[in-house]
Amino acid sequence: MSEHCIIDGINYGPLAALVGTWEGDKGVDRAPEPEGEERNPYYETILFEAAGDVTNAEKQTLSVVRYHQVVSRKSNNEVFHDQIGYWLWDPADNSIVETFTIPRGVAVVATGTLAPAADPEQELVFDVAADASGIVQAPFMFKQARSTAFTHTLTVKGGQMRYTETTVLDIYGKKSYDHTDVNTLSRVS
Ligand code: HEM
Repeated sequence: MSEHCIIDGINYGPLAALVGTWEGDKGVDRAPEPEGEERNPYYETILFEAAGDVTNAEKQTLSVVRYHQVVSRKSNNEVFHDQIGYWLWDPADNSIVETFTIPRGVAVVATGTLAPAADPEQELVFDVAADASGIVQAPFMFKQARSTAFTHTLTVKGGQMRYTETTVLDIYGKKSYDHTDVNTLSRVS
């Protein structure tokens, strides 16, 4: 493991590559509408911070990176998506967890395994997924705008980050609508 992974004495492994402030203005959101859908070009800032480690059941120790993502529509410069979450890494088996909430009354726990090597100097692919059991939502959302699955692939190499994510929704009478977001960001600090 490279010494670049150590921050304040804690080994963040692959998560060290995330830490910093990232900006990108090539975002495209595909979102549901009652009649059809909308495509929203967007820009965003994501702040990732080293947040220490935790021990679960005295057996599992996870390194923690906390993030805040703020997304604005290009058409009117208004924030239209806000997300707060954590990435967790378990050095014992190289597994990762992304857990986050959005201010619609939806929270997600998505899991995956890093392959092959956890070295922030290489291209790193953080690939996580959640099925319905990894999604909790307020009763209104469960009835009217249900999230049924989530996948997220985030790739980091040097100062560049790319991601694609899909939230599968049952909404407006549509079953399994793919609400997708993609963007490319650069590290600004
Ligand atoms: C860059 C990321 C994202 C952007 C820009 C975004 C944007 C949007 C937009 C524009 C809508 C339609 C809202 C409306 O018509 O009022 C929407 C709906 C929705 N989004 Fe997202 N979203 C993002 C990520 C997510 C994620 C990660 C989740 C959950 C895991 C999520 C869950 C939902 C849900 C449940 C709805 C349906 C609510 C509704 O349309 O009234 N979104 N999103």
